[in-house]
Amino acid sequence: MKISFKLNNKNVTIDTDPMRRLLDIIREDFHLTGTKEGCGEGECGACTVLLDGKPVTSCLVNAVHIDGKEVMTSEGIAQEPLGKLLIDCFDETNAVQCGFCFPGFLVTSYHYVKTDGEKNLDKIKKALSGNICRCTGYQKIFESVMMACERN
Ligand code: FES
Ligand code: FES
Repeated sequence: MKISFKLNNKNVTIDTDPMRRLLDIIREDFHLTGTKEGCGEGECGACTVLLDGKPVTSCLVNAVHIDGKEVMTSEGIAQEPLGKLLIDCFDETNAVQCGFCFPGFLVTSYHYVKTDGEKNLDKIKKALSGNICRCTGYQKIFESVMMACERN
């Protein structure tokens, strides 16, 4: 099946199995390996991307669901001014340890700061509750997002 969508602001078309996972399309067809596979079951957030501006776990999205839509990965977000600001804040607070969870946190944090942006710890915790960090860096991650809200 031919699937056309926008990926990081570029129009693309692929010919693929309609049930193929968006996670695999991103990583294998476009070599955008920032998007990670952790659980493969929608539980860890490592594979989070924006689909029409909303965070989704790409391991649970099939090719057929992205036809005509807009997908933004961590690589695309890293090119945006707000993405750059978030990366600086994560860097300044040393919020990234092994880095595996970071692309997912970047996508979810970007969505929070862009759509709400209130420097409110409870709201930030709730917004990031679908992302798991195995290196227990949550406090610094929350601090980073608070910092980005303040500076944005
Ligand atoms: S790999 Fe998709 S949520 Fe964990
Ligand atoms: S920094 Fe290692 S999983 Fe989060």
